[in-house]
Amino acid sequence: MIELSNVSYTYYNGTKALKDITYTIKENHFVGIIGPNGSGKSTFIQLLNGILLPTEGTVCIDRMYTTDNESLWEIRKKVGVVFSNPEDQIVTASVEEEIAFGLENLGIPHDEMLERISKALEVVALKDKEHIDPNHLSGGEKQKLVIGAVFAMEPKYIVLDEPTSMLDPYGRQQVISILPKLKEAGKTIILVTHHLEDLIKADEILVLDEGKIVLQGKPAEIFSKEEELKRHSLSLPYTLKLQVDEDIKRYLHLNSLSNVEELVDVICRYR
Ligand SMILES: Nc1ncnc2c1ncn2[C@@H]1O[C@H](COP(=O)(O)OP(=O)(O)OP(=O)(O)O)[C@@H](O)[C@H]1O
Ligand SMILES: [Mg+2]
Repeated sequence: MIELSNVSYTYYNGTKALKDITYTIKENHFVGIIGPNGSGKSTFIQLLNGILLPTEGTVCIDRMYTTDNESLWEIRKKVGVVFSNPEDQIVTASVEEEIAFGLENLGIPHDEMLERISKALEVVALKDKEHIDPNHLSGGEKQKLVIGAVFAMEPKYIVLDEPTSMLDPYGRQQVISILPKLKEAGKTIILVTHHLEDLIKADEILVLDEGKIVLQGKPAEIFSKEEELKRHSLSLPYTLKLQVDEDIKRYLHLNSLSNVEELVDVICRYR
């Protein structure tokens, strides 16, 4: 469990990036964080493994405080982080080596390493690419590799700060589709995104604006607040917008669509 209690963060230049945030991230949950540019999402993420320390309040991970220096190593093992640009995080010449790299640094024995690599490749659906040079992977595959490498280190929490922002829609979908598999494998997922559509399968969504939590709830509750979302510069996924239109809904017999592929499929069937 990650507990933020009355957390504020002010940068050295006086910018108040987060203001009095109290929030608990439950184990094995998928939490989505969304909000306009500058709303404090990346600051929030960086507080979770002690990259930043709160100016006020506390961040506690499984009863360890990020301000406690002696716990920082353990906290960083528990909280794996994935950033936007996979190129910045890839350092080796093959998919398999890339996953092995982090494990070698942790001193994992050879046999266990092979097992972990195999499991990670399966979870991120790159099993057939293990000998390929990461430079020859697509953007989506590169990001999946980065996630696989983090997964293999067996963190309890996986934090992703806009992992799809550099990807085309197909790459984005590839990355988003593996998140439920990480959850099935027991991980807690914290995903920052600019697309509400990425959060349809989240357990809870937090909307940040100007450093504060302005909305929080299950996807269905958040998606039902279109006007409020607009006030925070957010728009509904268009698959959902379409469903809101009753005529179209009746015509296409739509019940619930969660992604673009399903929408395309329905439209193709009714052409
Ligand atoms: N290193 C820094 N020094 C000073 N101010 C900063 C720094 N990093 C971020 N800020 C400011 O803190 C506020 C929150 O920034 P943050 O990066 O957390 O927002 P964000 O929601 O991640 O934005 P984006 O969607 O653009 O990534 C913004 O006003 C930003 O300008
Ligand atoms: Mg950011």
